[in-house]
Amino acid sequence: MDLVNIGILGLGTVGGGTAAVLSRNAEDITRRTGKTIQVTMAADKDPSKIEEFSQLGIKVVDDALAIVQDPEIDIVVELIGGYTIAKELVLEAIKKGKHVVTANKALIATSGNEIFAAAAEKNVTVAYEASVAGGIPVIKAIREGLAANKISSVAGIINGTGNFILTEMRDKGSDFADVLKQAQELGYAEADPTFDVEGIDAAHKLTILASIAFGIPLQFDKVYTQGISTVQIDDVNYAEELGYSIKHLGIAKKTETGIELRVHPTLLSKKELLANVNGVMNAVLTLGDAVGPTMYYGAGAGSEPTASAVVADIIDIARTINVTDTTSKVPALAFDINTLDSTDVKSIYNIDTAYYLRVSAMDRPGVMADITKVLGDHDISIEAMIQKEATNGDSNADIIILTTSTIESNMLDAISAIEELDTISGEVVMLRVENPDK
Ligand code: HSE
Repeated sequence: MDLVNIGILGLGTVGGGTAAVLSRNAEDITRRTGKTIQVTMAADKDPSKIEEFSQLGIKVVDDALAIVQDPEIDIVVELIGGYTIAKELVLEAIKKGKHVVTANKALIATSGNEIFAAAAEKNVTVAYEASVAGGIPVIKAIREGLAANKISSVAGIINGTGNFILTEMRDKGSDFADVLKQAQELGYAEADPTFDVEGIDAAHKLTILASIAFGIPLQFDKVYTQGISTVQIDDVNYAEELGYSIKHLGIAKKTETGIELRVHPTLLSKKELLANVNGVMNAVLTLGDAVGPTMYYGAGAGSEPTASAVVADIIDIARTINVTDTTSKVPALAFDINTLDSTDVKSIYNIDTAYYLRVSAMDRPGVMADITKVLGDHDISIEAMIQKEATNGDSNADIIILTTSTIESNMLDAISAIEELDTISGEVVMLRVENPDK
């Protein structure tokens, strides 16, 4: 039986999970591929990992380049993360004619165009299922399962740490820092947790989803990115009262006026399936012209859920080894690389969406009329409105407004005019409201 030799770069949370899943399910994997898939080598700088994995019969080295250059290795599994060393190793592996599996969303989002071009030239595969939404096979679903469709939008909860934090804050009133610490201990968070809470990790993943959904190049630098660190508990509570949950969404839309790529806290009606995705779970909702809405749900982080996606990629590649006809290969970014669409990505000021506003207003007659007049002057309609009683001797009262859709620059002009009113104090809180399955 054919033997496929795997070299794993990085024996952290996902590397360990990958070795464990390949070993535990070896028999079924062989039944699925007709091949024996074996982790032959692994690299890690940590001496304790070298000792632990050597005991499993894996040759563990501290120099990742030794694996990339070893002629015995068929598939290099890059689980180091980050942009620099990982990129050098992946490009070197491609140069040596090796297939690559990676969970590295930062690398694919920022250097994927270059990496896929290099891979195409050497006729090797770079597979990256684990880079988006952990164990959910969403890349395969969009790239292959939805290949018949024109996809008009993708919206997802694609950062488990952020979703875990928002869920715990809402359900337990927990402190942001405590919940983040818990997520780090559970192995969900990035090495630099600001990547999770400031939306960079979600923006990496959204870049990839948008590319394979719309057939556009990877354009991480065009993603509007806003994190959850500024989400206030008052807004979580007011949103709940109005029948909404605040979720950190990645949104990609193909509209008549361009492509929208944005990551930001978003109000979702609790009637929406996405609004009910809680804890560390991820979900991605797509809209296709033929199929309509489809949604994919599962664990977006963690050792074996992410390993599930890594091993699925290894299995896919193992099936193609020694197959000479490559004409049926699925393109790396779902579309022929020479046909990628150059439609502009819209500025955030030009997006068209609904809004949640919180205004701190003096408790005086006529204040409400002043605010509604400003909105009316900007042709913005009010969908719902509540006024909270001023409490604890505070002379200000919170007014919460949900609006219908308008262009963001128009909303920002209206907010500036509201903030200029004498009866308003402080800045208006603005959050976007979406209805992603329409
Ligand atoms: N830090 C990421 C998350 C891990 O929390 O979703 C998976 O990419």
